[in-house]
Amino acid sequence: MKNIWEELPAGFTALAPMEGVTDVIFRQVIARAGRPDVFFTEFTNVSSFASERGRESALERLMVAPTDSPIIVQIWGKNPEHFAELAGALDELGFDGLDINMGCPDRHVNAAGGGAAMIRTPELAVECLRRARAATELPVSVKTRLGYTAVEEYRDWLPKILAEKPAALTVHLRTRKEMSKVPAHFELIPEVVGLVRKYSPETKLIVNGDIKDLAGVQELRTQYPQVDGYMIGRGVFGNPYCFTKHTPTREELMELLKYHLDLFDEMDAGLRSKRAQALSEGVDVPVRGLAFDPLKHYFKIYVSGFPGAAELRARMMECKNTAEVRRVLADFGD
Ligand SMILES: Cc1cc2nc3c(=O)[nH]c(=O)nc-3n(C[C@H](O)[C@H](O)[C@H](O)COP(=O)(O)O)c2cc1C
Repeated sequence: MKNIWEELPAGFTALAPMEGVTDVIFRQVIARAGRPDVFFTEFTNVSSFASERGRESALERLMVAPTDSPIIVQIWGKNPEHFAELAGALDELGFDGLDINMGCPDRHVNAAGGGAAMIRTPELAVECLRRARAATELPVSVKTRLGYTAVEEYRDWLPKILAEKPAALTVHLRTRKEMSKVPAHFELIPEVVGLVRKYSPETKLIVNGDIKDLAGVQELRTQYPQVDGYMIGRGVFGNPYCFTKHTPTREELMELLKYHLDLFDEMDAGLRSKRAQALSEGVDVPVRGLAFDPLKHYFKIYVSGFPGAAELRARMMECKNTAEVRRVLADFGD
């Protein structure tokens, strides 16, 4: 199996994994606006996948679109057996790599022993990584933070992960405790590069945190050319064209929003018909499609920064389905 990390250009860009954001629909939107060199999925919980009840929804979030390629699937959890089970099922699903989340600061995720909690259980973290790797042909990578509480923890923590020779390592340059409240510690990049060189020179290093757009990538690249890749997360909220040098017009943003609505409708209809079919074959499933309300989180990406945007957005937030949104847009001449 090819190692995708070896094929990416020097100084590659990556769309960060973002739960509730970088689903199969939004990734297609970003691909249309201007794609990164590599996509990451939202994270999928290994134990949900291992349970009969959770498997269907886990498989839904593991859907990929043709425009996603290359794409890395991210998983999280703390049960080594379940890591092996999910990793073993991924080879056929269209992914190019498997990433393990060891940085998420969410209280519930950490209480369940996953995400950044792994920084405090390095033996378990290593065991999960090994079990996942033994079960898949995909190159296995890790995304983590500098530490749980103190910044200096990276000096102990990163070597433990690097000793496992992950194909790639993404470092969000903050601690779990810092959440996203302080500026990313770019000044530590040279030391992190030093650790990678010392413990696992083949590992591709990706830095993450506060990189807004391609200009930000280029600035960092000039300063720290030893870094292999640059990951952008929240930058897409400010500008979905952030992987390009293009500043979109209102018309372009509206076109992109309508594309998002079209993709939503298409997937919604597909899910409904798949479930209706299953029901007719005697499987006990509710015939429902996609939830509409989460779609509202995206509106601000497209509708902001122009006169009347706040008013238009307020009207869109009152809508109950995509047909209503389309009518509101038409009322505003969009
Ligand atoms: C809404 C949201 C959801 C996120 N979900 C994930 C996730 O599923 N997996 C992960 O590794 N990081 C997740 N993150 C963290 C981002 O991948 C990234 O590390 C963080 O936002 C810092 O990068 P940025 O400053 O470019 O946004 C999430 C961040 C946000 C804002």
